[in-house]
Amino acid sequence: MSNAALASEHRTEKTMSKLDELQAAEAKLLLGTYERNPLLFVRGEGVHLIDESGERYLDLLSGIGVNALGYAHPAIESAIAEQSRRLIHTSNLYFHEGQAAVALRLTEATGMDRVFFANSGAEANEAALKLARAYAKLRRSEGNHLGTKFLALEHSFHGRTMGSVAATWKEKYREPFGPVMPGVEFVKFNDIADLKAKFSDDVCAILIEPIQGEGGVRPVSRDFFEAARELTRSTGALLIGDEIQCGFGRTGKWCAYQHYEIQPDVVTLAKPLAGGIPMGVMLCTEEAARAIHAGMHGTTFGGGPLACAVALAVISTIERDHLLDHVADVGAYFHEKLRALAQKHSAAVGVRGIGLILALELDSADLAKLVVAEMMKRHILINRTDETVLRFLPPYILQKQHVDQAIAALDAILSEQPATTAAAAPSKGGQNVGQ
Ligand SMILES: Cc1ncc(COP(=O)(O)O)c(C=O)c1O
Repeated sequence: MSNAALASEHRTEKTMSKLDELQAAEAKLLLGTYERNPLLFVRGEGVHLIDESGERYLDLLSGIGVNALGYAHPAIESAIAEQSRRLIHTSNLYFHEGQAAVALRLTEATGMDRVFFANSGAEANEAALKLARAYAKLRRSEGNHLGTKFLALEHSFHGRTMGSVAATWKEKYREPFGPVMPGVEFVKFNDIADLKAKFSDDVCAILIEPIQGEGGVRPVSRDFFEAARELTRSTGALLIGDEIQCGFGRTGKWCAYQHYEIQPDVVTLAKPLAGGIPMGVMLCTEEAARAIHAGMHGTTFGGGPLACAVALAVISTIERDHLLDHVADVGAYFHEKLRALAQKHSAAVGVRGIGLILALELDSADLAKLVVAEMMKRHILINRTDETVLRFLPPYILQKQHVDQAIAALDAILSEQPATTAAAAPSKGGQNVGQ
């Protein structure tokens, strides 16, 4: 169904006029980077978004994996209120109380040594790419050969800056802006032979999302991840774990790589870090950090007092409320319900993910599109990625009753669809994390 048709089904008189006004204004004023869904949200509460006419929507996407504590969480509200009364921005030319405190918590949670604060996922990855190049240069100056090439994986998504987009698989993101940063080669997903064939001491880093998010919620295999770890260790190249979508508690552990017991040299985090206030971080080992000295890299806004105060509140709340365990528990329940759904409906061909990064793969892109639209009509927000994949990235405070509500809606929608050929369907399981 087109967005325009959806719009007419969704609007009351009041939202219609306001939404129409906004659509017209944006169409004239904004760069056309997004085709938005026809919903106008004015506030949120817990796991719900509320539109202008007071209609509530169960949000299973949380602003693409950002709103880990949901909406209007008291810990975030008071951190913003208190910090904004004291100090919002200082620049990185001076000290403030927030960065060391957040860095301590993040290094403890991730097993890394040092932190660089940025403002987004792409910026965190950009810092990681620059660090890898700088570290390779340092190693060369010390008499070791380490080149400038990057290996990234097919179906990867690392962001939209010139560097991070160069390491992003889909050509449609890179091609209009070419030439993007040269020197990136893509390795077939989970193909160890291809990885070994493409790896050499010309490579300064391998980038891996332990669970590919935009690529369809696909976990890397344990064997592949281990091979990448061994290869990089053998030359001194850096293993970069992009945990921007799958990290910071979303899998029920602080980082997805902890399910594999593999420690990267560099880790990037962003989305849920500061509960919706923009923050990205690049964490690295002491060894890699040798390559950076004052003045080489920086940011005006990164790690500001407000973002740090909120990040501390988010970390403390995750710990105080045992949300990692909760994510694991509700996630396992959600996974089990999705698997039961996939057993029942031949159009559902796979269930993947862990914790609260989950996917239900359908057998056609059109069906996946239709299901997202039908869910929206039933006031449940999900999205579609990699064409055929329904993706669930709900807030960590999701309860089992919300899972039941979503599953019942999916069941009803799939039951309304004409049956497809189950014979064409691949395994209903799919690769699981850490396997
Ligand atoms: C794995 C991964 N890396 C990087 C990014 C880019 O993050 P941002 O949109 O904050 O720049 C994303 C965004 O979806 C992501 O999922």
